[in-house]
Amino acid sequence: MDLDTRALIAIFVGIVVIGIWLSQRHGKTSNNKSSGSKKLKSRPNTSNNATAVNNPTASNPPTNTANAPTNPNTASPAARGRRATSRRRTPAKKVNSKYVPAFGIWQINSSAIGTVVANAISSGYVEFDSSDNYGNEAELAVALNSHNVKRIYTKIDPIHYNNIIPSIQTAQRLFQGSGQLVIMLHWPGETTIQGSVAFPGANGVAAYRNLARLISRPAVSNFGVSHLTRISRIKKPYLNQIEINPLLQQTEIIRYCKKRNILVQAFSPLASGRLNTNPIVVDIASKHSKSVAQILIRYAYQKGADIVNVKTTNLSRMQENLDINDFVISKHDMRRLNGLRDDASYLLGTSNSAPSPQVFGPFQKQVRRPVPSAPPLGRLGYHLNRRLKRIRTAGRTLINTP
Ligand SMILES: NC(=O)c1ccc[n+]([C@@H]2O[C@H](COP(=O)([O-])OP(=O)(O)OC[C@H]3O[C@@H](n4cnc5c(N)ncnc54)[C@H](OP(=O)(O)O)[C@@H]3O)[C@@H](O)[C@H]2O)c1
Repeated sequence: MDLDTRALIAIFVGIVVIGIWLSQRHGKTSNNKSSGSKKLKSRPNTSNNATAVNNPTASNPPTNTANAPTNPNTASPAARGRRATSRRRTPAKKVNSKYVPAFGIWQINSSAIGTVVANAISSGYVEFDSSDNYGNEAELAVALNSHNVKRIYTKIDPIHYNNIIPSIQTAQRLFQGSGQLVIMLHWPGETTIQGSVAFPGANGVAAYRNLARLISRPAVSNFGVSHLTRISRIKKPYLNQIEINPLLQQTEIIRYCKKRNILVQAFSPLASGRLNTNPIVVDIASKHSKSVAQILIRYAYQKGADIVNVKTTNLSRMQENLDINDFVISKHDMRRLNGLRDDASYLLGTSNSAPSPQVFGPFQKQVRRPVPSAPPLGRLGYHLNRRLKRIRTAGRTLINTP
């Protein structure tokens, strides 16, 4: 074989290799572009939390938006491999950080708040969840006065929606100097609860408009997808607090929030005690030598919650509820827990995220944009792609020919 022939073969092989590389790269890019929602589905839950950590709108994200630690003893080699891949894809994830639930104070007697909050702080809680209708908010403010905690979440009851500004100012005054304050609307407005309109005349949209005008991170609670879509036209909410547990999984709302960098805060992770003796939860708990409560708190995080509220007045339970960072619920066990779903809210007896048409207008159907079938460069890209495919096939044949 003379020199010219060898040079020609070398050039041809070079073109083939570049062709294969280009076409594979092109394939990946167009796949990613056309299946954004699929990518979100297949992404492991721990990376959902990473989305919140890297949330550009959340300039000061909560402590517990940290990524899930992994347990090398319980993870299969395949799972370890998958995690390694997802770690590479999200390089900004924090290392050695952990989940720290927020401490909820609903149903705690106002006279006990001082002691309970002091115990919670000494146990390691740095975030507190309250509301203007819990009857103990002023006591929480007093208890927090001498401590500078990281963050306080509070809610404004719908009965104040039509004159919301004084309620916002009261919350700001109460928690001034105690930590960062996140104020949210407690419910969308005229929500239907157990067949009756709970808050007649409460205009959630107008209340949200005022909240968004007065504070930089307006937040909401119990908002469904249609509510979130409606208020996002005013300003995207910072956070949505919703019930999350295996019985009420809120998958659609979580997916919606994750896609738009709205933080998800879970409440009632223990499903009001209704899963305490459930054989599946008990089995998973004994597998990890953990309590049912620890499994359920961990479940809410792995479902995509950035913050999980949990309440207890008992000191040892306070500590127990923080001890959730040395294990991971496997995909298989997450599926078993997901199988417990019955879509009922155990707080209100029915799903409380139904849209309220009086204030929010008719339920808005999500319109899916058609996936473009032609490659991004139009006709030129289409022909280029076909050529590259041919070169790739020719290259494979050449490589596989003995
Ligand atoms: N935005 C909203 O509409 C909304 C609604 C509900 C709640 N929340 C917030 O979310 C917080 C938590 O929700 P939640 O109070 O409904 O429910 P939760 O925290 O899921 O459950 C609290 C119940 O579980 C018990 N418990 C706590 N830790 C336990 C453990 N390790 N083992 C066994 N039992 C344990 C508590 O009893 P003991 O106290 O006796 O330990 C209490 O009865 C509330 O305090 C509130 O701040 C918000």
